[in-house]
Amino acid sequence: MSNLKTQAIFFSPTNTTLKIITTITDALKFEKLQDFNLTFPSKREMVNIGADADILVFGAPVYGGKVPSMVIPAIENMIGNNRWIVPIAVYGNARLGNALSEMVYLFREQGFRILAAASFIGEHSFTSNDFKLAENRPDFDDLKSARSFGHEIKRKIEYSPLEIHTIAQKTDLSNIERKNK
Ligand SMILES: Cc1cc2nc3c(=O)[nH]c(=O)nc-3n(C[C@H](O)[C@H](O)[C@H](O)COP(=O)(O)O)c2cc1C
Repeated sequence: MSNLKTQAIFFSPTNTTLKIITTITDALKFEKLQDFNLTFPSKREMVNIGADADILVFGAPVYGGKVPSMVIPAIENMIGNNRWIVPIAVYGNARLGNALSEMVYLFREQGFRILAAASFIGEHSFTSNDFKLAENRPDFDDLKSARSFGHEIKRKIEYSPLEIHTIAQKTDLSNIERKNK
């Protein structure tokens, strides 16, 4: 198992998803391929994104309770070939909505196996002097939680690599559970 390759793939205009995804991927401590940043439109047009990794950690923010529409064509360009993926939804502590289960559904359609899935909180993109939501998140504790989630995923792939089957409303990993603060 030690020669597995991982890759962080994310859409992250204000960098909160990037922080969570790279923290989780680093914690896996497998060979790490170069991060793939879907924020750049030209990257989203590429076919078979993430083709060289055995385990993908994929993150997108929640927009209107859903996966951002501009991310969906990139997901539809990915080819799972039965490989593992960990979908992560990052939301501004307003509403997670269906984003996480939507991502799980989309990746299954592409032929991926879902190893784990989770939601994390990031500062709401609309935060300003007058409107503050989840300010400065992810904070120290969020990143600590992301790291330990990565460690749990590593244990799972090494000792009980089973696909998850259900998605609870907020977060689900079947045998890895993570609660939002
Ligand atoms: C257009 C738009 C819609 C959003 N909709 C939601 C939402 O429905 N629920 C929520 O909690 N946060 C929502 N957010 C906040 C983002 O999910 C949150 O700030 C996230 O951390 C941004 O990720 P990023 O820093 O990787 O871009 C929205 C942000 C934008 C720009």
